[in-house]
Amino acid sequence: MAKKAAKPKPKAPSPARGLRILMIASEAQPFSKTGGLADVMAALPKALGRLGHDVTVITPRYRGAPDGPVAGAVAVDVAGYHFRARLLEQIIGTGARVLLLDCPELYDRAGIYHEGGVDYPDNALRYAFLSAAAIDFAAQQAEPFDILHTHDWQGGLAPIYARMLGPQHSSTSALQHSSTSAPQHPSTVLTIHNLAYQGIFEKSWVPRLGLRWDDFTIAGFEFFDRLSFLKAGINFAGAITTVSPTYAEEIERPEYGHALDGVIRARHDRLTGILNGIDLDEWNPAADPHLPEPFDADRLPAKAASKRALLQRFGIEVSDETMVRPIVGMVSRMVDQKGLDLIAAVAEPLASLDATFVIVGTGDPIYQDMWRRLSQWRPDRISAFIGFDEPRAHLVEAGADMFLMPSRFEPCGLNQMYSLRYGTVPIVRAVGGLVDTVRPYNPKNGQGTGFLFSEYEPGAMLRTIETALATFPNKRVWNRLQKNGMRADFSWGRSAAEYVKIYRRLLPARTTRRAPASKG
Ligand code: ADP
Ligand code: GLC
Repeated sequence: MAKKAAKPKPKAPSPARGLRILMIASEAQPFSKTGGLADVMAALPKALGRLGHDVTVITPRYRGAPDGPVAGAVAVDVAGYHFRARLLEQIIGTGARVLLLDCPELYDRAGIYHEGGVDYPDNALRYAFLSAAAIDFAAQQAEPFDILHTHDWQGGLAPIYARMLGPQHSSTSALQHSSTSAPQHPSTVLTIHNLAYQGIFEKSWVPRLGLRWDDFTIAGFEFFDRLSFLKAGINFAGAITTVSPTYAEEIERPEYGHALDGVIRARHDRLTGILNGIDLDEWNPAADPHLPEPFDADRLPAKAASKRALLQRFGIEVSDETMVRPIVGMVSRMVDQKGLDLIAAVAEPLASLDATFVIVGTGDPIYQDMWRRLSQWRPDRISAFIGFDEPRAHLVEAGADMFLMPSRFEPCGLNQMYSLRYGTVPIVRAVGGLVDTVRPYNPKNGQGTGFLFSEYEPGAMLRTIETALATFPNKRVWNRLQKNGMRADFSWGRSAAEYVKIYRRLLPARTTRRAPASKG
């Protein structure tokens, strides 16, 4: 009896069947962030860890990211340079760690991708190295990774490098072509978070990055006579996912395909749309350190404290009038994708609505200036913070009454899910992940969680905002709407399990081999 009990206990729920997954991404919270990719790169690994898998994320150590214990070192030749880097470990959850790729000459800069609105001229090199370093690290492991899961164009070369660098190479290997046709590397998955960003560079990079001219074809990584990192990922990964089912359908059409729709269609059988979840710990109105008072679906009146704090923080007078007037919030990269041209087209009528607008965002100078001008024009009604500010983003989600996301396209979108959780009713365009997460409000039966419009047209957006504003004074209806949203389940568990299904499909033989013989 006692002996039986003393048998080595598994550390995780099912370690024998747990997979070892290596992820590559250009951003990961809390170490770097420009958008939703960073949120996903924290939450998905943690969710996979909770399911009993073991996830390592490799991401650049940009300026300001912390130090940490050295978990490995890589040395790779790329583009005629010899780069060495340490990998600094940060544990982010059970079975989930981030390794910060510490290569100051490539990543210790004022910006992440650009500075003063200009992309770094060596971005091809910076992100080729990210993939190459990750593959080199993988090749050093005594116990190989089962799956290499790479993200967006910045990780697009990983499947090719995985083909080129096998475990037989030492840590000081240069990128070179594997002589074997059966590469011993983990199976690869590419997740497309946004097809609009493709990592396109002059073809002179092809040999410099150790790539083969043989692959510079339509079926490879050639894109209008240039090198496309994203196309490389799409064509060379074992499986492709994107971040919502609707976006997976949309990107097969020219309208949303960014000239890659044909490439995506050709890989239709390998493509799956998996909806992002949200990190329920980070975005929890009942325990959010950025809010003056906690609230949830059962304590909705306490949301008013956040509204008050929001008005104060954005320099709008707090009065009975402004507390009653609905606040429409936005937290957004200020780029074409986010529908800012619709706002520009109806700025005046918008500013004349009986609403307060509170904006946090950064991006295209044209849109930044637009918001600055609008705030100067109607300082009592419009207040924009131009910059990247996490605490303000949380306060907008909590203190606003409505959240506006009129996106031209939206692969998934996280803010509308944060809004729903914070009882802030989303007004969104019916596109991509917004369709998959916001259900239209139906006044007949009180069902639904938000307001949607279909046509990408300023009038359609304006009318939908007006409908939301007209609904707002009816507190019974509004509370129901808020609660419908607050009770929606956007936890990561289900989506993480979907990824696991894809991983396992890529590795049926290996997974079975690694499972221990059962004693029945
Ligand atoms: P995208 O990744 O296209 O920008 P998402 O909705 O998926 O859109 O994710 C955006 C993420 O970035 C959210 O977590 C949002 O709060 C955050 N964010 C965007 N702009 C800012 C900003 N200016 N300040 C703080 N957080 C921001
Ligand atoms: C991209 C998309 C956004 C998505 C995020 C995380 O930045 O624009 O819609 O939510 O990635 O997957």
